[in-house]
This record gives sequence, structure tokens and C-alpha cells, in this order.
Amino acid sequence: MATKRLCMVGAGRVGRLHTRSITEHVGHRAEVTAICDPSREIAAELAADYGVGLVCATLAEALERGTYDGVVITTPTFTHHPLALTAIRAGLHVHLEKPMAMNLVECAEISGAAEAAGIALQLGFMRRFDSDFVAGAELLRSGEIGDPMIIKSLTHGPGLPPAWANDIRTSNGMIAEVNSHDLDTISWYAGSEPVDIHTRVANFKGAQRGVVTEHFYDTLVATVTFESGAIATVAGVCPADYGYDARVEVTCTAGMVQVGHTGPGGPASIVAGTALRGEAVYRSWRDRFADAYVREMVAFVDAMDGAPLRVGAADGTRAVGLVLAGTLSMLEGRTVTVAEVQAAGFVPAWQTRTGQ
Ligand SMILES: NC(=O)c1ccc[n+]([C@@H]2O[C@H](COP(=O)([O-])OP(=O)(O)OC[C@H]3O[C@@H](n4cnc5c(N)ncnc54)[C@H](O)[C@@H]3O)[C@@H](O)[C@H]2O)c1
Repeated sequence: MATKRLCMVGAGRVGRLHTRSITEHVGHRAEVTAICDPSREIAAELAADYGVGLVCATLAEALERGTYDGVVITTPTFTHHPLALTAIRAGLHVHLEKPMAMNLVECAEISGAAEAAGIALQLGFMRRFDSDFVAGAELLRSGEIGDPMIIKSLTHGPGLPPAWANDIRTSNGMIAEVNSHDLDTISWYAGSEPVDIHTRVANFKGAQRGVVTEHFYDTLVATVTFESGAIATVAGVCPADYGYDARVEVTCTAGMVQVGHTGPGGPASIVAGTALRGEAVYRSWRDRFADAYVREMVAFVDAMDGAPLRVGAADGTRAVGLVLAGTLSMLEGRTVTVAEVQAAGFVPAWQTRTGQ
């Protein structure tokens, strides 16, 4: 098969990660042939690092100046909707980073366009490609340990994300930026649709880090119930400072499974008594999920060749529904059903700025 030509949209943290995965690990099956970012300097630097020939300011410019089989969209969440639509309407396959979009209207438009165009739309939930997380899902599906009763999922990120991600108007806040992964994992593991969510948040470090954005929080606990009766908790801390931490525990009717660990040495406690133990701790999502990010890009190339998607628009949309209901719960201090935010006419009132 001919080498797939990919356009990398966004040259920030994730754009760099995916460019490296494709260039160094996907082999002859795909290459990044263009990078676009309004910050030409960042795009040019990334292109120079990985030998990419074309640097553009916008996706529109990249479409004028080159031809592609697919795009990898790694831009801030509020830009996902217009960029995904542009790529899909150009007939290109799309890997779209999480969160899929800012709201469910945008998700529906992206999903509808992808279906109509017959292109592959993969969502950036890399835990779906991590061997531990996949093994956990397979054990749960096997029925060997019964049905999930309680699912406890956490993601603690090391440092503050980029400024746009700290603002609920442009990102939907930490529940979207950090805990989207948990919202996807609990739904995947429950094997059931979410019914409602109750979110509580706190802000321990924002002021000392100079974040004064309204509604900023760095700590979150959400409770989600599922149609199956399973109950899940999602915990988030960012910045956690001690490292990157992603773990899940599922208690089932006939057993339990734990997935994830704090360092490359396997399960470890970071603090034992009062003394730090010597195990290495994952510093970033980049090292914790390094293999998964590579498999994710390989899976995208497979999907371009017709293989079934492992994680797609329905999963992205479900997570955005929980993000919206969870944010409304945080703002109004009550349990919010997913049906409430799915209702026609629901407007996330805190989003004053979407699309760009
Ligand atoms: N899957 C994961 O593990 C993971 C981890 C971190 C972030 N993300 C997601 O990836 C996306 C990007 O996050 P990031 O941390 O790389 O952000 P970032 O701010 O580091 O980089 C985003 C880049 O996109 C560029 N950009 C903005 N608008 C653009 C446009 N219209 N066209 C092209 N480029 C544009 C910006 O100039 C910036 O360089 C977000 O959706 C985020 O939630 C995913």
C-alpha cells in the first residue's frame, strides 16, 4: 500500500508527540508531510526536527499546498469542531484529540459529517491502546470476575496545562482536559451508558501558580452512575507535582481488577510511612503512555486501510456529554443527568467563546 500522507494540525505538546510516533515508529506506512500551526516558529521547529517538508499557518493553507490521506488534529479543544469539519469535507481521515469538541451540537455535526463522508474518525483516548488498560477491559468482558459494581478511576497530571485549558470557556476545564480519559475509561469498563454525574471541585494551588481564571479548579471528584447500576468515581488533580498518575480499580460481583501503576517499575507506593521510596515515577503522560501513543497512530493508519476503529465518535460524544453534565453539576451544586445536556436546546451557558 502507498505510504499515507498525514497533515499534523497543531505543533504543540501533542502535535510533537504524534509527529515523533509517526516518524520514528510507524515505518513506511505513513509520514507527516505537512505541519500547520498559526505559530509558524513552533511549526517550523517541529518540521525541522522530524524532516517535514511543508510548514503552514492554517489547515486551509496546507490543503491548498499539498494532498493528504489524513490529518491528526492536536489543537486546543475550542478549535476541534471547525478543523475536523474542514478535514472531513476535504475527504480526509481524521485522528481527533480528546475532548472531541466543546459541546454535543459540535459532536453531532462532526459525527454526521464523518459518517456522510465515509472517513475514519479516531478519537485520542490512548488508554484504549495501553496493554494494561486493554487487559483490564478484556478481563471484564470475559465475565470471569462478574459484573462491575464500583469503578474508581483517577488521573493526576504533573503540571498546569496550557492557559487555554485552565479556562472552562475554552476547554470546559479540568474535567475535560484531564479527566476525559477517566470518563471514557469508566464507560468502557462499565460496558454501559452513563445516567448522571455529581461533581465536587476544589482549588488548592491555582492562586500560588498565578491562575486567576474564574471557575478554575485543580482538584475534582465526580460520581457517575450507569444504566447497569454500576457506580464510578473519577478523581482528578492537576498540578499534582509528584508525577503523572493514571489508575483504575474495578470491584465486580465475583472479583476485582486493578489497572495502572505509578512508575515504570510496576505497582509501587510513592510515600511509604514518611520516607520516599526509590522507584522511578512517571513524570508525564508522554512516558506513562509512550507505547499506547505509538499503537494509537498505527491503529489510525490501519483504520485508513479499512480496519475497524477501536475508539470513535460515539465514545468521544459520550465523554463530552459527561463533561458538560459534570461541569453543570460543579456550577450548580447538584446531580445532573446526561439526558439533561443531551436535550435539544441545551446550551452550556459558560461557553462564551467556541470555534476559531
Ligand atoms: N491524548 C492525550 O494524552 C492528550 C494530552 C494532552 C493534551 N491532549 C489534547 O490535545 C490537544 C492539544 O493539546 P496540547 O497540550 O498539545 O496543546 P498546546 O497548547 O501545547 O498545543 C496546541 C497547538 O495548536 C496550535 N493551534 C491553535 N489553533 C490552531 C489552528 N486553528 N490550526 C493549527 N494549529 C492551531 C497552537 O498554536 C499550539 O501550538 C487538546 O485537545 C488536548 O486536550 C491530549
